[in-house]
Amino acid sequence: MGFVKALLLGLSTLSAAWTQDPLVPTIDIVSELMELKAAVAQLKEEVKVLQEGQPKVAFTATLEVPGRRGHIGPHSKDITLVFKHVKTNIGEGFNSTTGVFTAPVRGVYFFAFNCFAGASKPMSSALFKNNVNVVSIWDQPSSGDSEDNGFNAATLLLDPGDRVYIKLWKNTQIALTDGYSTFSGFLLYPLK
Ligand SMILES: *[C@@H]1O[C@H](CO)[C@@H](O)[C@H](O)[C@H]1NC(C)=O
Repeated sequence: MGFVKALLLGLSTLSAAWTQDPLVPTIDIVSELMELKAAVAQLKEEVKVLQEGQPKVAFTATLEVPGRRGHIGPHSKDITLVFKHVKTNIGEGFNSTTGVFTAPVRGVYFFAFNCFAGASKPMSSALFKNNVNVVSIWDQPSSGDSEDNGFNAATLLLDPGDRVYIKLWKNTQIALTDGYSTFSGFLLYPLK
């Protein structure tokens, strides 16, 4: 009996479908359209957040403004180098008053620095994350070559508020000559 009932039910559903007039649809087209429009608007909003929400962070600064000569140091204690001449500062993470880059978001960042000096005295500096020395450079005075250069770089995982900066070690010097001593960094990709 159950089978016959099911068969009858199936047949009546089929005949209902066959007799349905396509010009008189059983769905409410207007409300379906409204729902679709709302869904598209929501998607557009999400795409915008995806595009704009990706933080953009990149900077390059050199130690001095054009025209300055001479050296910073040697000092009797370590100092934070203030790279004053900002070339790029997308996202305003780098502060040219303090020389400190502060991470705006959690993510993987890349930093590089080059230090230049006359070779009459030692030149040594280091990149710090918060209060920790990450990578360093060192160049001894020399008589055969009157210029010193030292370069280093680091890829770091930073949390918002983490600080990255360059320190000049005590008893060493760095040249002010514009464009030779530089500090750069950028956000490689953000992390949750
Ligand atoms: C840079 O640091 C100085 C000293 O802490 C502060 O007064 C200034 O507001 C900072 N600048 C920016 C753009 O955050």
